[in-house]
Amino acid sequence: MTLPPDPDLRPPPGTPGATAGALGRVLHLRAAGVSLVVQLHTTSTPTVLHWGADLGDLSEAALADLALSGRTARANNDLDEPQPVRLLPEQAWGWNGRPGLSGHRAGTAWSTRFAPTAALVEEGDGGGRLVLDAVDAEAGLALTLELELLPSGLLRHRATLTNTGAAEYEVADLALALPVPPVATEVFDLAGRWAKERVPQRRPLTVGAHVRENRRGRTGPDAPLVLAVGTQGFGFRTGEVWATHTAFSGNHRSSVEKLSSGTTTLAAGELLLPGEVRLASGEGYRTPWVFGAWSDEGLDGIAARFHRHLRARPHHPPRPRPVVVNTWEAVYFDLDLERLLDLARAAAQVGAERYVLDDGWFRHRRSDDAGLGDWYVDEGIWPQGLHPLVDGVRALGLEFGLWVEPEMVNPDSDLVRAHPDWVLRTGGRTPLPSRQQQVLDLGNPDAYAHVLARLDAILTEYEIAYLKWDHNRDLLEAGSGPSGRAGVHAQTLAVYRLLDELRARHPGVEIESCSSGGLRVDLEILEHTDRVWGSDCLDPLERQQIQRWTTQLVPPELIGSHVGASPSHTTHRSSDLSFRAGTALFASFGVETDLTRMDPAEREELARWVALYKEVRELLHTGTLVRADDHDPSFLVHGTVAPDGGDGLFAVVQLGTPDTSVPGRVRLPGLSPQAEYEVSAQAPGDVPAVRGGKDLPWLASGVRMNGRTLAAVGVAAPALQPQQLVLLRTRRL
Ligand code: DGJ
Repeated sequence: MTLPPDPDLRPPPGTPGATAGALGRVLHLRAAGVSLVVQLHTTSTPTVLHWGADLGDLSEAALADLALSGRTARANNDLDEPQPVRLLPEQAWGWNGRPGLSGHRAGTAWSTRFAPTAALVEEGDGGGRLVLDAVDAEAGLALTLELELLPSGLLRHRATLTNTGAAEYEVADLALALPVPPVATEVFDLAGRWAKERVPQRRPLTVGAHVRENRRGRTGPDAPLVLAVGTQGFGFRTGEVWATHTAFSGNHRSSVEKLSSGTTTLAAGELLLPGEVRLASGEGYRTPWVFGAWSDEGLDGIAARFHRHLRARPHHPPRPRPVVVNTWEAVYFDLDLERLLDLARAAAQVGAERYVLDDGWFRHRRSDDAGLGDWYVDEGIWPQGLHPLVDGVRALGLEFGLWVEPEMVNPDSDLVRAHPDWVLRTGGRTPLPSRQQQVLDLGNPDAYAHVLARLDAILTEYEIAYLKWDHNRDLLEAGSGPSGRAGVHAQTLAVYRLLDELRARHPGVEIESCSSGGLRVDLEILEHTDRVWGSDCLDPLERQQIQRWTTQLVPPELIGSHVGASPSHTTHRSSDLSFRAGTALFASFGVETDLTRMDPAEREELARWVALYKEVRELLHTGTLVRADDHDPSFLVHGTVAPDGGDGLFAVVQLGTPDTSVPGRVRLPGLSPQAEYEVSAQAPGDVPAVRGGKDLPWLASGVRMNGRTLAAVGVAAPALQPQQLVLLRTRRL
C-alpha cells in the first residue's frame, strides 16, 4: 500500500510558471473559456470560489474582492463565523454534510483539521495546477491535494493521504468536493443495464444527497458516467452545466449534496469496502483522478471538453480506426479453421481491415462453461496452433486480433484445479457463480505472474495487433489471499498494471476494454486501453441511445460499434442494413455477423457503407459532436462538424412512429453561423423507407444555406418510417 515516490507530483525547482509559497493567495487559473478561482487559506485546505465562465484578467485586488464578496451572512443558529466549504470538507470547519475524509485509528483521529504546510502553483496559458501539502499532526496524517485546470478546460483533482502516526489508520472514504452555484437546480446522470447501458435520468436538485454507488467491482452498465447539475431545462445545446466523472474501474461513488444552508457540492471518488485500505505507519492511499467539466453550452459543451482532453493525450490512437470484423455473433463457439478463413475472405471483400477471433480458441473452451484461465491454444481444434488462421488472415491484408478474459477463471479449468486458492473469495466460501465463472486474485503475485506470462507468450508467438480484453462478471465477496480481506481496490490497480506491462512489452498491440458489453467505460481504463466496446446490443434502435449517451464522455472513435444480424441476437428486433450500418458509422465501425451467409446484394451494400466509413472517419473522429435538442421523442438528430466548422455529417433518425404525419423542419446546429453550406443526402444513407413514398423537393437538388439558418430554421426531414435514418452532408462552399 506504500505509494512509490511520484516524480510528477512536484516539478523540479526553477520550473517556469511554478511558484512555491502560494499560501494566502487567491489563485486564478484559466483555460478554454473556463476560470477556476481558488482561495489558498493558510489554516485549512482551499476553497473553490468560482468554477465556471472565464472571468478574464483579474488583478490581485479584484480576486481579493471576489473572495470577500462570497462571504455569507450569519444566519440564526449558525456558526459564530460562517465558513465556506473547503476542497476537503471537514467538521472542524463547520461542515455538517458528507465528510471529505472518513477513517479512524482504533476509534481515534476520526475528525481531522488539516493545516497546509506548502503550496506549489504552476500557471500557464492553458490552465495550471496546484499541489498543496497539509498535515494534521494530532491525527497523525498528512495530505496532498492536486487540483489542475487542463488545456481542454476540464479540471481534475485527486488526494493522497499518508499515515504519519505509529499505529494503523483505516480509510473508509476520501472524496474532494467542488461547490456549484445555486443556479444549478437539476441533476442529470446515467443508469442502465446489460445491453441497454447508459440510460439518462433527471430530477430536481433538492436538499439532501443524490448518491450513486457502485459495488460491482467494475465500472458497470449503470455507472453515472457523468453526474451533472445545471440550470433549469439544460439540454444538449443550451444551459449552464457542471459535471463530474470518476476515472476508476472498480467500486466508486459520485454524489451531489445540497445542504439546508443552500451550499451544493459535487463529490466523487473510490468506494472503499470495509477494511480495504488500512495504512500502516508511513503508508499512503491515493484517490483516483476525478474530473470536472463546466459548460454554458449544455451537455454538448461538456462532451466537447472530454473529447478534446482525450484526443490531446499522447497515446490517443493516431491511426484511422480500422474496420473490424469480429467472429462472436458470426460463429460463437463453432470454431472451424475453414469456416473462419471463409469469414476472413468475406471480410476482406467488404473492405474490413482487422479480424478479431472472439472467444473459444483456448483449451477446454467449447462453451462458456469451462476453460477461462487455460490460456493455451487448444490443440484439439488447432493442431498447428493459431498459425494457419493468423497467417491466412494476414495474407488477406487484415490485422489479426484475439479475445482474452485474463481476470477471470472457470472453476472447470486446469488453472483452478491446480490453484483453487487463486480465486477471489472470503468467509471460506466461493462467491455465487456468474456466467459459470470466478475472478482470478491478481493481488496474489503468483496468479498475476502466471497470467502475465501466458498473455506475453501468446503475444510473442503470434502477430497479434489487437486484444479484445473482456471481463464478464461483477466482483462479489471479492476477498483476496488467505485472509479474504476486501480486494477490489488492489484488484483494480493490478489490472491497470497488467495492461501496462503487456503494452510495454508489446507496444504495437491495441487493446479494447470490453466487459459484458459496455460495462467498463471510464477514463482510467482508457489510460490503459485503446477503445471500449459500447454494448453487446447491436440492435440499432438500442444502439442509437447507447452511443448518444456514451459519447457524453467518450469520443466516437474510441467506442466500438458493429453491424450485426437482423433480427438482432439480443432483442430479436429486425432492422434494415442501412439502419444498422448508419448507426455503427458514428463510432469505431465494425461488422459482427456471418458475412458468408449474407445475401450478395446486401454484402455489396455493406461494402458501400464500409467505403463511406473510410471516407468520413477522419471527420467523425476529429470533429465536434452535435446533438440537436429534440422536440419529438419519436426521432433524434445527431452529427459531427469538422473542428474548423467546415464539413459536417448528420443523421436524422426515426426511432418510432410520430404523432404527426409530417415531421416538419429539423435543425442542424453546430455549423459556422456565417459560412454557406451545401446540404444534400449522403449515399448510401440516402434511400430510407419513407411514408407516402414522395420525395422531398429539396433533397433531389440539395440546398444552400448558411450555418445560422440551418441551426435556427433547419430543413424539412423526410417522413421516415420507424427505424430508418437519413444521412445529411453539409459541405462548406
Ligand atoms: C462478452 C462480450 O461482451 C461479447 O462481445 C463477447 O466477446 C463474449 N463475451 C464472448 O464470450
